[in-house]
Amino acid sequence: MKISSKNVGHDLQIADNAAHTSAKTVKHESSVRDVSLAPSGEKKIAWAWRNMPLLQAIKADFEKTKPFAGVKVTLSVHLEAKTACLCRTLAAGGAEMYATGCNPLSTQDDVAAALATGGGVFVYAMHGATAEEYERHLTMALECGPNVIIDDGGDLINIMHTKLKHLIPGVYGGCEETTTGIKRLYSMAADKSLRFPMIAVNDANCKYLFDNRYGTGQSVWDGINRTTNLIVAGKNVVVAGYGWCGKGIAMRAKGFGAKVFVTEIDPVKALEAMMDGFEVMPMDAAAGIGDLFITATGCKDVITEHHFGKIKDGAVLCNAGHFNVEVDVAWLDKNAKRCEAKPNIMGYTLANGKTIFILAEGRLVNLASGDGHPVEIMDMSFAIQALSARYIAQNHSNLSPGVIPVPKEIDLDVALKKLASCGLSIDKLNEEQVKYLTSWEL
Ligand code: NAI
Repeated sequence: MKISSKNVGHDLQIADNAAHTSAKTVKHESSVRDVSLAPSGEKKIAWAWRNMPLLQAIKADFEKTKPFAGVKVTLSVHLEAKTACLCRTLAAGGAEMYATGCNPLSTQDDVAAALATGGGVFVYAMHGATAEEYERHLTMALECGPNVIIDDGGDLINIMHTKLKHLIPGVYGGCEETTTGIKRLYSMAADKSLRFPMIAVNDANCKYLFDNRYGTGQSVWDGINRTTNLIVAGKNVVVAGYGWCGKGIAMRAKGFGAKVFVTEIDPVKALEAMMDGFEVMPMDAAAGIGDLFITATGCKDVITEHHFGKIKDGAVLCNAGHFNVEVDVAWLDKNAKRCEAKPNIMGYTLANGKTIFILAEGRLVNLASGDGHPVEIMDMSFAIQALSARYIAQNHSNLSPGVIPVPKEIDLDVALKKLASCGLSIDKLNEEQVKYLTSWEL
């Protein structure tokens, strides 16, 4: 793919705040597709910002307290408007910000342009970047020698531990946004490869219970519906994986009037799906039934060559899991005849004469074919990110390498602030109730 990049340069005094750097003036240049797109990106950012009360309050606090003064932060998260708001919140707290995307199709070039030209953030990201360009952007974002890393899926951490090991001594720690990234971190920790503390942001109650379930539940359907413009009611929808994302996707499919089928590998999750009113079966059986397939497992090879032959002519397949490995699109690319049906829908005609359609190249459909989760959901997720990043910046000297949970007080604080922002209040235990709940005597 031809990239017509425009670079936006700033001179920056790099603070001598890490063992591996000495104070020097370094020329940094953002690398984005087209800076003239910035006005459109600014409008998207402004719309998101007006609907992010938690992040607004955090930014106001950060502006006063400057928790990131002298701290370099590298962030790799889907580069769209809500993420731009997170970057600006951290920059307002004094962070030297370096931002990149975490998926080549989820970067919105206008938002990247706005962020790169708006001041305070260096950006390295382009929509439709090739695999090499994508990795180069991540590497460029890390070459500043970050103190705090905010990752989504684990790619920054992987590059840091393989190709940029010399920068590890300067890293205080970081935060990981999603289930797949946390699984990768646990694998690294298990073989003692993880060299700094990483907060498992995904596992905070105020993240996965809302972002993964209600966020994915809504945004996956937004991506599918705006791309296909097809009716969901009456269709057979197959959801692979009944974790937090799968639960949200299946729940909303039911709301649209679909007949929902769930595939699982975990017997308990399968039972939950059954009792929630869905049909449970292996993918082998579901393959011939589905009109629309959505994978949300975080696993690979969920729908493969073996299933493609059984799938109905005209069926639509898409993925909501972090990586594009759940539907074996690589096999289709090699073995079926490709014909683009419309932007973001690729038709594949198989040797049996049937055509199946893949949305957004099998990449996560809500971001590659949409704007991602609703703003208010990301307000909660990014409030946890911002407060967890501050926790790392302020407490890193007392933390050991490994995966650590989001501190309980951050989770609770976000829940209370979210309730308040919705104009809701809840009951408080009185002394007698506390005594009753904590005593073992009758
Ligand atoms: P989870 O761990 O709660 O659920 C995954 C489920 O898939 C589990 O119940 C597991 O038993 C099942 N599973 C695993 N392999 C399977 C297979 N081969 N066939 C059928 N079922 C299988 O994870 P969660 O939080 O639901 O995340 C799922 C994926 O979605 C991850 O890759 C995560 O990073 C990603 N994610 C995507 C978001 C988006 O915006 N699209 C938002 C949040 C997470």
